[in-house]
Amino acid sequence: SPSDPDLVERARAAKEKLGDKVFVLGHHYQRDEVIQFADVTGDSFKLARDAAAKPEAEYIVFCGVHFMAESADILTTDDQKVVLPDLAAGCSMADMATAEQVAECWDVLTEAGIAEQVVPVSYMNSSADIKAFTGKHGGTICTSSNAKKALDWAFEQGEKVLFLPDQHLGRNTAVRDLGMSLDDCVVYNPHKPNGGLTVEELRAAKMILWRGHCSVHGRFSLDSVNDVRERIPGVNVLVHPECKHEVVAAADYVGSTEYIIKALEAAPAGSKWAIGTELNLVRRLANRFAPEGKEIVFLDKTVCFCSTMNRIDLPHLVWALESLAEGNLVNRIEVDKETESFAKLALERMLALP
Ligand code: 13P
Ligand code: SF4
Repeated sequence: SPSDPDLVERARAAKEKLGDKVFVLGHHYQRDEVIQFADVTGDSFKLARDAAAKPEAEYIVFCGVHFMAESADILTTDDQKVVLPDLAAGCSMADMATAEQVAECWDVLTEAGIAEQVVPVSYMNSSADIKAFTGKHGGTICTSSNAKKALDWAFEQGEKVLFLPDQHLGRNTAVRDLGMSLDDCVVYNPHKPNGGLTVEELRAAKMILWRGHCSVHGRFSLDSVNDVRERIPGVNVLVHPECKHEVVAAADYVGSTEYIIKALEAAPAGSKWAIGTELNLVRRLANRFAPEGKEIVFLDKTVCFCSTMNRIDLPHLVWALESLAEGNLVNRIEVDKETESFAKLALERMLALP
């Protein structure tokens, strides 16, 4: 839908008034009305790197979700203030692993006598507390664009990986990229005693997958893939690795949002694509590449926005920018020092991956 011209003008004016004091980052899943004001756009890996790229900016306005804003705070200087235009923009996946649950899980691994062999690898989509746990226990963060490198690194450090909180990214990477079998993976359920696993199962596993998932990508099914192949002969199916294993196994290509964009840029005219990721991005790509004769459709028949990403809308962005322009620091995301130091360790291990 077209943006309200009055709000567009107000956002533009507030941004102009702030000048170099503000740096606006936008994740690919953001609405068009918001993304038009982003100084840089990217997937979560690119944005984690870009956050630190403008140390002279006093305010980083993060158009994305809470865990991304926390990571930006961790990776920027103490003088820089990270602002999330709507504090309700969380992530249901990140919420599936709490610090208490993860500490309890570590106790279970310790009891089973395997904690010393386990290296935690946590997906970017996790709270700063989980990142700090990861750093404390010698592990690394990964994103969907470097999960293979992160797992390769982790298996050089230890024999087993505890992968948090997205079971699908963990399983897909282990099986597709590292050649493991599904039997090498077990799922730890934080709502069951001992994660619902026996000591034998824990000892035999190579990948201990946390029972978390993305509610958006989890909606794509094998039926969605079969349907689209029937509807559009010759279609290329391209999905995000947060999708279920059966969806990823049936797809032609798999990759992060940044990978999806590059694949479509490189695609020949006349090619047809069904994309399994968030709808704001798919619609934007469909519009962008239609003039080049590339047909791009959403993988599923039902609508599939990320509701928390969508909380950041133009009215919230205007409010945040105008408040900052008037000298009112609103919606600051600030990670406490102790958490920050351990979380930073884990994030820096990721940024140092080859
Ligand atoms: P990427 O940005 O790594 O593609 O991850 C997608 C996602 O779900 C972000 O919340
Ligand atoms: Fe979280 Fe999924 Fe939304 Fe990403 S798309 S913010 S993983 S719920």
